Amino acid sequence: MINGWPERDESKALLLEQIRSFSQNKIKPMAALLDESGQFPTEIIQQLASLGMMGIMVPDVWGGSGMDTVSYAMALEEIATACASTAVILSVNNSLVCGPLLTYGSNEQKKKFLIPLAKGEKMGAFALSEPGHGSDPAGLEVQAVPTSGGYLIKGTKNWITNGKEANYCITFATLDRQMGPKGICAFIVSTESKGFQVSKLENKLGICASSTAQLFFDDVFVPEDCLLGKRGEGLKIALSTLDGGRIGIASQALGIARSAFEASKKFALEREQFGAPIAKLQAIQWFIADMATRLQAARLLTWSAARSKDLGLKYTKEAAMAKLAASEAAMWITTKAIQVHGGYGYTKDYGVERNFRDAKVTEIYEGTSEIQRLVIAAQELAQK
Ligand code: CAA
Repeated sequence: MINGWPERDESKALLLEQIRSFSQNKIKPMAALLDESGQFPTEIIQQLASLGMMGIMVPDVWGGSGMDTVSYAMALEEIATACASTAVILSVNNSLVCGPLLTYGSNEQKKKFLIPLAKGEKMGAFALSEPGHGSDPAGLEVQAVPTSGGYLIKGTKNWITNGKEANYCITFATLDRQMGPKGICAFIVSTESKGFQVSKLENKLGICASSTAQLFFDDVFVPEDCLLGKRGEGLKIALSTLDGGRIGIASQALGIARSAFEASKKFALEREQFGAPIAKLQAIQWFIADMATRLQAARLLTWSAARSKDLGLKYTKEAAMAKLAASEAAMWITTKAIQVHGGYGYTKDYGVERNFRDAKVTEIYEGTSEIQRLVIAAQELAQK
């Protein structure tokens, strides 16, 4: 059992145990250093790749581990408990890159791109957002101009996780803005293509060891066989992919929150004030009780969304609920964790300050909390 959820099969239980042990023994001791230096965790990612973590839900014929989404959520939570930056690097490669290649890619595309990405030999990024289009991707401006044998991509993408390290970028561009959403296409772009450039790296509050890049496409040629799905299917591909991505970010948020929660319990039992451990104080007990409850409620929503995906049910609303609940729980829990630690929590010595900074982005990327509420409300109000 992990946190009240039965592990259904021996091999999955074994792999999760390996991930838990690797996260605690190898990743966690490096997390503060990675945060301070902003260095990409190359070696850790290679080791996680050898454990099958770059293509967790990809069937083994396509180079992955063939695990289900519930196991993916559990594995990501374990990794994020140790290091939130490492978790988002994995979440993007798994959910936002391997995910759409598996669902919409041709067999040739799977062979050429999915296998190396799922094995971790190559790294992927998802280029949807633009300087003027974050919450509203339907209005995106990057152009795909049809040319002999393919397309020329032109424009700027923003906030691209793994943008600096990616070998392939799932890139969304419009054939003609007058066509609206029906003009948007998805392309698999090699970052070695002429005209592709990492034009800026963001200096961020948290998840400092993962890159967030601005990408400039200067008439980048993309051959016809790198169109993912059909012409005009791009927005559908982007939004359905983000449904899966939101389960990944919810799991990342759970890990960040769990790290802050565990640190708070330990500190409360050790720290003495007024002649006794502060855990004896009811004010602290209430924080601990509320942290535990919010964490488990968000976890069950996340696993429920993951289970719906595994069963082939529609899970757009469930994924939005999971991300909303888990990211807001993470922000609340990490804020209270600093409060439990008092002045010590405000320093870099206990890790909860890093948890607090890392938590914030989970309320923003892959759809802000306000966007998740829009998605949930739209689905609820559409029900008869
Ligand atoms: N799955 C499949 N198709 C979907 C869908 C889904 N979940 N949601 C909508 N669609 C389809 C609709 O059916 C519709 O198609 P038709 O016209 O053929 O019916 C089309 O997409 C447009 O649908 P809507 O009118 O509902 O969409 P909208 O334009 O009103 O937008 C939105 C809705 C909820 C605001 C949506 O745009 C959204 O989720 N925005 C947030 C985007 C986001 O998460 N951005 C973050 C980018 S990634 C990132 O963070 C970077 C990173 O590297 C981590």
